[in-house]
Amino acid sequence: MKDISDKNSEAERQLSFASKIKELLSEKKGKTPGFFVQTFGCQMNERDSEKMAGILLSCGYSPVSSEEEADVILYNTCTVRDNANVRVFGRLGVLKGLKEKNPDLIICLSGCMMQEAEVIEKIRKSYSFVDLIFGTHNIYKFAELLYERLISGSMIIDIWEHEKEIVESLPALRKYPFKSGVNIMFGCDNFCSYCIVPYVRGRERSREPKDIIREIEALVEDGVKEVMLLGQNVNSYGKGLEPTVTFPELLKEVIMIKGLDRIRFMTSNPGDLSDELIDVMTYSPKICRHIHLALQSGSDRVLKQMNRHYTKEEYLEKTRKLRKAMPDIAITTDIIVGFPTETPEDVDETIDIIKKAEFDGAFTFIYSRRTGTPAAAMPFAMTDSEIHEQFDRVLNTVQETARKRTDFYTGMTLPVLIESVNEKDPAMVTGRIPQNTSVHLKGDPSLIGQIVDVRLDKSLGFYFEGTKV
Ligand code: SAH
Ligand code: SF4
Ligand code: F3S
Repeated sequence: MKDISDKNSEAERQLSFASKIKELLSEKKGKTPGFFVQTFGCQMNERDSEKMAGILLSCGYSPVSSEEEADVILYNTCTVRDNANVRVFGRLGVLKGLKEKNPDLIICLSGCMMQEAEVIEKIRKSYSFVDLIFGTHNIYKFAELLYERLISGSMIIDIWEHEKEIVESLPALRKYPFKSGVNIMFGCDNFCSYCIVPYVRGRERSREPKDIIREIEALVEDGVKEVMLLGQNVNSYGKGLEPTVTFPELLKEVIMIKGLDRIRFMTSNPGDLSDELIDVMTYSPKICRHIHLALQSGSDRVLKQMNRHYTKEEYLEKTRKLRKAMPDIAITTDIIVGFPTETPEDVDETIDIIKKAEFDGAFTFIYSRRTGTPAAAMPFAMTDSEIHEQFDRVLNTVQETARKRTDFYTGMTLPVLIESVNEKDPAMVTGRIPQNTSVHLKGDPSLIGQIVDVRLDKSLGFYFEGTKV
């Protein structure tokens, strides 16, 4: 592992490319050039996009609100399910028209989808108007690659098959001034049999605690009140570090940061959720009462084939412990329906565990075959229409438990971080309780970024209406 001074010198090198781009742009008279970033996928991609937007800002571009106004367009892509890929190719079709109207437009593609050889082949063949393609391991090189593209005038593709160093201290442009994601680790070593993430994000690497703490301190100084610690499996944080650090130990350090009000984290793998983590959460009011604990399936047979390393009963035991320690904790999850060998009887098990765990919410997905994963070779037990039927059953059950849980919180007064003006009613604002559910309340934009006590008057299924007290 390189030391911090090396990592900073790479950041400085990149900033020197940003200055060169700034010079190039200043030679052209007229309005400030604009950039537009579109993110697909998970919170980790959201955070990467903020970093790339920060790089574009330091290159002299400023953010614009539509693709039509942009001089640089970046799509940061996801490939976890096929529909994510389909959406990107659909949007590229539209960009072709924009590029025909404005040949100076620079179109960049980054992220997980770009780590797949077939995707690159397809873009080369059918979308040759794209200007710059890079992957998940070299986003910190964005300024350098963009500079190369501007100078050379031809398509640049830079995909690294493997991760290299972690580069610290590049600028980021946050979507929200008052909250931020913070990567604590990259990659994944779990190789769940359906999942492509380990192939496109590389091996698991944890950041040094001191780098994480330094980043959060700087964020707090810049007005951040809430951080979300990000990793594909935060419970295995710290493996491979010298000396090794556990996730609860890291949390204990993060709690100490003055001025930081709320801490969230995502995602937790049920297999290695420790009692120590439950203890740290229980005794630290700064840690939000919310855990996203991906279940995937309630059938032991399917879980085994998924390579998930826990049983239905073990999962339930974790949720019982969590709720015993923190009765007000929200437990949310991810569920896949239609895993190749899954039968309706397996789905019965999933429905049963949803009812027993009483999930506060769940993302439910229809299984999507990913080339190169072990599950891609397994035959399907159900037809498409049977899978959709089972999917609806699962969705309905989740909606029932989610409604029950929002009823449980109704009447409580909880601290709400106000995030935005309400989309439908400008006299209202929207925020989140520690459990992550949205609340709409009367209020003006001056509340945005503040944490205020709100009484939850009414549950409307998946959100609340409340009153500031
Ligand atoms: N590392 C996280 C999950 C990241 S991917 C975790 O394990 O908790 C987010 C979710 O996408 C997964 O939890 C899973 O439910 C879903 N997913 C992953 N691969 C999928 C596939 N091939 N088809 C359908 N859903 C999938
Ligand atoms: Fe995918 Fe499993 Fe890793 Fe999550 S833990 S990213 S589901 S391989
Ligand atoms: Fe998608 Fe990559 Fe996240 S595949 S879900 S953007 S890690």
